[in-house]
Formats: sequence, structure tokens, C-alpha cells
Amino acid sequence: MKTITVNASKTYDVIIGTGILDNAGEVIQKTVGGQTAAIVTDDNVAKLYGKQLFNSLVKNNYRVCQFVFPHGEFSKNAEIFFSLLNFLAEEKFGRSDVVIALGGGVTGDLAGFAAATYMRGISFVQIPTTLLAAVDSSVGGKTAIDLAAGKNLAGAFYQPDLVLCDVSTLSTLRPEVFRDGCAEVIKHGMIADAALFESLKISIDTQLEEIIARNVEIKSSIVMEDEFEKDKRKLLNFGHTAGHAIELLSGYSISHGHAVAAGMAIATRAAVRMGICKEQCLRDLENILKQYELPLNTSFKIDKLISVCLSDKKREGETLTMIFPVEIGNCILKEIPINELEKILQMGILL
Ligand SMILES: NC(=O)c1ccc[n+]([C@@H]2O[C@H](COP(=O)([O-])OP(=O)(O)OC[C@H]3O[C@@H](n4cnc5c(N)ncnc54)[C@H](O)[C@@H]3O)[C@@H](O)[C@H]2O)c1
Ligand SMILES: [Zn+2]
Repeated sequence: MKTITVNASKTYDVIIGTGILDNAGEVIQKTVGGQTAAIVTDDNVAKLYGKQLFNSLVKNNYRVCQFVFPHGEFSKNAEIFFSLLNFLAEEKFGRSDVVIALGGGVTGDLAGFAAATYMRGISFVQIPTTLLAAVDSSVGGKTAIDLAAGKNLAGAFYQPDLVLCDVSTLSTLRPEVFRDGCAEVIKHGMIADAALFESLKISIDTQLEEIIARNVEIKSSIVMEDEFEKDKRKLLNFGHTAGHAIELLSGYSISHGHAVAAGMAIATRAAVRMGICKEQCLRDLENILKQYELPLNTSFKIDKLISVCLSDKKREGETLTMIFPVEIGNCILKEIPINELEKILQMGILL
């Protein structure tokens, strides 16, 4: 078991290990207290782990209620968000009661935004059950829902009070969902840690707990430096400019991690053509993406991608910030005038 402490606007522990779910009630009671706990989870995860968490909370004197929604990105919307807020009100939640997100990034983003806004903020615990949520979305305090115009367009920075990552829950993931998380792990290697990147050449399964812990360290150290994404935190968006556009254009049939994988390959190909990194860096990235059966390209047309990228919230006036690798383990931020985006995508996309 490993504990990593995050010192942001809230100080909280991320506890990573196996069998944690059975003791979740005890740890949550000690850390956040409160009388009532809401388990927020999707229908898949409810069936797999809902009862286990429920029992552990009841055993530790919580009154427990469950909010279960249909799985998938389409549920990260305003309608379900408001029904969750109304559910908390009907269940008479007070500020010291606790919202627990049990699930992947969709659950964490949705439940976190509800916890941030209900009564201007109530206690919030993340229990990630996908690799992506374990290594990325459960830590750092970004919460959001999607709007028709784009992903994550309404949200808040709201740090959890505790993150409990039970690695044994990852064993039931479908392989393609597991690979979504691998894309974010590869991203962390690309932006911050060549040794992590190198270790991925050996199978991730045999070193899962260590790799999750390393990723949480990387993400939390960036968040501690720049919680509100003024500067350094933008590095975590490597691959996400094109990635978000691909996700949206596919009607979310291409999942987040797969879209980000294609986005990283596109940005790196453009970086080679712009002389920012060497060809070998691109080859290394492409090889690791292939090894984890992730995409290296997109078939969407450049004009379609551009129109979505320009409505993305990361645009700042007439420029947008893109992230390019210099070498494995080191990326830079670059301000791009929006009229150069077409040229960059042309350099990055294999036709
Ligand atoms: N807040 C952040 O910092 C941040 C960072 C990265 C991604 N995200 C967001 O995360 C979302 C993607 O997250 P995701 O990939 O975890 O998707 P997800 O939450 O939709 O989970 C993927 C699928 O796996 C199922 N599932 C979850 N845990 C399971 C388990 N243990 N066993 C079997 N099935 C399980 C779910 O029911 C779902 O069908 C996107 O909306 C993305 O924007 C947020
Ligand atoms: Zn991401």
C-alpha cells in the first residue's frame, strides 16, 4: 500500500493498494466523517462494487444512499448533473455529509462537479475503478460536465478530501477501457518521466500498483505547482487539443484515452516537422502506442477538427496553447496563432 499526500487548496491523501474497498467506510469515517454518504456510480460499477462499498459504509455508521446513472460519456451532462443535485437535496444532505464517486472518469467528473456546487461545496471522496481515473482524473480537482458545444465546458476546480484506489477493481475492466488509461500513463511518461516511459516497454500489468503510484506523484506534483492551470498544468493537456476534437466528432464512440493517443501522435509528428523534436522521439511514441493497441492517427478531416478545436475552452483569444515534446520526458508549451492550426494539423495527420 502506498499513500501520496497532495498539497493543493486542500491537503488530501491518495491511498493506493489492493483490498482497500472493504475498509473504505472506516477510512472515510476517520478522514471526512459526516452522517450520510451518497454513492454516485454508473450501472456497470454499481453491479460490480456497489454492494461492497455500501456494506463497508453501513458498518461504519453511515446512512447510505445510492445515485446510479447509465454508464458512458453521454451521462456527463446537465440533465443528470441536476438530477444528482436534486437527489442530494431530497436526501437532505448537509455540508458535512459526503459524496463518494465510485467509478471511472465520467463518474468522478460528474459527482465532483455536483459536490463542488451543492450548498457551495460538500465533502467529496473519489474511488477510481478505471486505470484512467486512478492515474489521472481522480487526482487534481478538475470536475466537469459536457455541453453540446464541447467537452468539459461547465465545471469547477474542486479537490477531493480523499482518494482511495483499490487496484483489484481494475481486474474487471474491458481491455479497451484499460487501454484508455494506458494512454494517460504514456502521456505522463512523455511530459515528465523518461524512466516511466521506458518501464512501459515491459507489460504494465506486472507493475500496476507502482505505475499508478508514480503517475499520481507526477500528476500531483504538477497540480501542486499550478493548481488552476495558469501555466505548467497545461502540460497535462498534451494530445488533448486534437484528442478532444476527435472525441466530439466521433459522437464519443472514440473514447477519451484512444482520442488522446491519436492526439499525442499528431502533435509529435508536427513537432518533428517543426524541428522541435527528433524523429526518434516520434518513433518511440508510435511504438509504445502500437504496443498498447492505441491509435496513431485520425480519419477526420482537418477543417472539421479545426472548427471543434476553435470552440474548445483552451483557446485564448487569437491564440491557443499547444503542447509539443522536445524529447521523451520533456514537453513544452507553445502559443499558436489560430490561423496556424491548419498547418500544424497538416503536418501532424497522416493522409
Ligand atoms: N478530471 C480530470 O482531470 C480528467 C482527466 C482525464 C479524463 N477525464 C475524463 O474522464 C472520462 C473518461 O473516464 P473513463 O475512461 O474512466 O470512462 P468511464 O468512467 O466512462 O468508464 C469507462 C467504462 O468502464 C466501466 N467501468 C468502470 N470501472 C469498471 C470496472 N472496475 N470494471 C468494469 N467496468 C468498469 C464504466 O461503466 C464505463 O462503461 C472522460 O469524460 C474524460 O473527459 C477527466
Ligand atoms: Zn485526458
